[in-house]
Amino acid sequence: MPENTLTVVDNRTNKTYTLPVENGTIRAMDLRQIKTGPEDFGLMTYDPAFMNTASCKSSITFIDGERGILRYRGYNIEELAENCTFLQVAYLLLFGELPDDKQSKEWVKQITHHTMLHETTKEFMTRFRYDAHPMGVLASTVAALSTVYPEAKKVRDRDTRMHQIIRLIAKVPTIAAYSYRHSLGFPYVYPDNDLSYPENFMNMLWKMVEPKYVANPVLARALDILFILHADHEQNCSANTMRCAGSSEADPYLAVAAACAALSGPLHGGANEAVLTMLAEIGNKDNVPAYIKRTKEGHGKLMGFGHRVYKNYDPRARIIKHIADQVFQVTGKNPKLEIALELERIALEDEYFISRKLYPNVDFYSGIIYQAMGFKPEMFTVLFAIPRVAGWLAQWNELMEDKEQKISRPRQVYVGQELRKIDTSRFSVVKAMSR
Ligand code: CMC
Repeated sequence: MPENTLTVVDNRTNKTYTLPVENGTIRAMDLRQIKTGPEDFGLMTYDPAFMNTASCKSSITFIDGERGILRYRGYNIEELAENCTFLQVAYLLLFGELPDDKQSKEWVKQITHHTMLHETTKEFMTRFRYDAHPMGVLASTVAALSTVYPEAKKVRDRDTRMHQIIRLIAKVPTIAAYSYRHSLGFPYVYPDNDLSYPENFMNMLWKMVEPKYVANPVLARALDILFILHADHEQNCSANTMRCAGSSEADPYLAVAAACAALSGPLHGGANEAVLTMLAEIGNKDNVPAYIKRTKEGHGKLMGFGHRVYKNYDPRARIIKHIADQVFQVTGKNPKLEIALELERIALEDEYFISRKLYPNVDFYSGIIYQAMGFKPEMFTVLFAIPRVAGWLAQWNELMEDKEQKISRPRQVYVGQELRKIDTSRFSVVKAMSR
C-alpha cells in the first residue's frame, strides 16, 4: 500500500477505497466515488461552519493555534510589529517579500497618490443619516466605488487588479475618516500627502482649524502596529466571504464590501465594539465575578474571549497589551482597563475557560486602546477593517491566480419535504395558465 494514502472501507458495500493524502488532507471529491450503487450520488462530507475543511491552499498567513503562533509570509507577527510599518506589511502580504527601500518608497508614493475620493463619492457619503453606523457607511461606500471604477470588473487582468488594490488600500482610511466626521457633523478633511499612512488617517479624523495637523508619534506608531496586527488572519469569516464573492468574478469593491459585512458581526470584527459595551455593562471591577458566573450559566459570552483557531493566548492580544502601556502614558489610563484585567485574571483561572481553552483574543484589549485614543466604540470595527482590506485583497489576488479554484459553491444535505402537491382547497388559486 503506498504511503500517504488513506484506506476507507465502506461497510455498506464492503468495498475498499484508497485515497491519496496530501498536506494532511484528503480531497473531498475523492469521496464521490464511494457509492452504494449507480443511483447513489456518492459520499460527501458534512461540515457546518467549516470546522475541518480547507477551502484553499495559501502561502500568505500561517497560524498554529495550539502554540499561539501567527506569521505573515513566514515572518513572526512579533518581529513584523517591532520592525515594520503597516504599508511594508501590506506589501509583504500582497507580493510575498518585504519591500527594499526603493520598492517601499515607490509603494508609499502609489498609495499616497490614491488617497482622495472622487467628489461624487464624497457627496454620496453626506447622504447617510447623522447616526449611521460607520461599518454600514464603510461597506456601502466601498461598494459604491464599484460604480466609480467600472474597469475593476476585469478581474482576470493582473494590472487592473493591482490598480484597484492600490486604490482600495489608499481610499479606505479616507472613507473611514469621513464616516467619523459625518457622524460628528464636521467638514471632511482632505488627505495630506506629506504624512505617513497612520498620520494622514489621524489628520483626516481630528484636524480642526490648525494649518497642519501634527500627530502624536507614540499614538501614530501604536495605530500603525494595530494595523499590522489586524492585516490578515488566513481563512476567517470575512476572508472567506471575500474569496467566495471574488470567486464569482465580482469586482473587488463589491467583494470587499461583502467582506466588510462579514467582519461587522459581533462574533468577528464587531467583537471589539462589543467588548466595550460589555465592560460598560460590568461597570466596575467588583462586578466581574458575578458577570463571569452569568456567562458560565449560559447568559451571553465573554466578548473578546475565545477563538476558532487559537487554543492558546492570541499572540496579537499579547502585543496589544504591551502597546496599551505606551498609549496610556500619553492619554492617561482608560478606567476600563482595570475591569478588563480583572476579567482576564479570573477567567484564566476558571475551569470553564481553562477546559474550553478560551483566552483573550485580539479584540479584548484593542477597544480599550482605541477609546483612550479618542475613538468612539462604533469606529472600532472600522479600525479593524482598514488594515484587513490589505489581507482580503492578498487573499483575493491569490484566489485569482489559483488554477484549482472555481466559483465557490458548497453542497447541502437536503432534509426538507419530499415531493408533494399543493392542496388547492385551502386558498384561492391564481388563474391557471393554459398549457
Ligand atoms: N465566552 C463564554 N463561552 C465561550 C466563549 C466566550 N467568549 N467562546 C466560546 N465559548 C464556549 C462555547 O459556549 C462552547 O461551550 P460548550 O462546549 O459548553 O458548548 C465552547 O466554548 C466552544 O465554543 P464555540 O462557540 O463552539 O467556538 P467557535 O469556534 O464556534 O467560536 C468564537 C469562536 C470566536 C465565535 C467564540 O469564541 C465567540 O463567540 N467569542 C466571543 C466573540 C469574539 O470575541 N469574537 C472575536 C474573535 S477574534 C477576532 C476575529 O478574528 O474576528
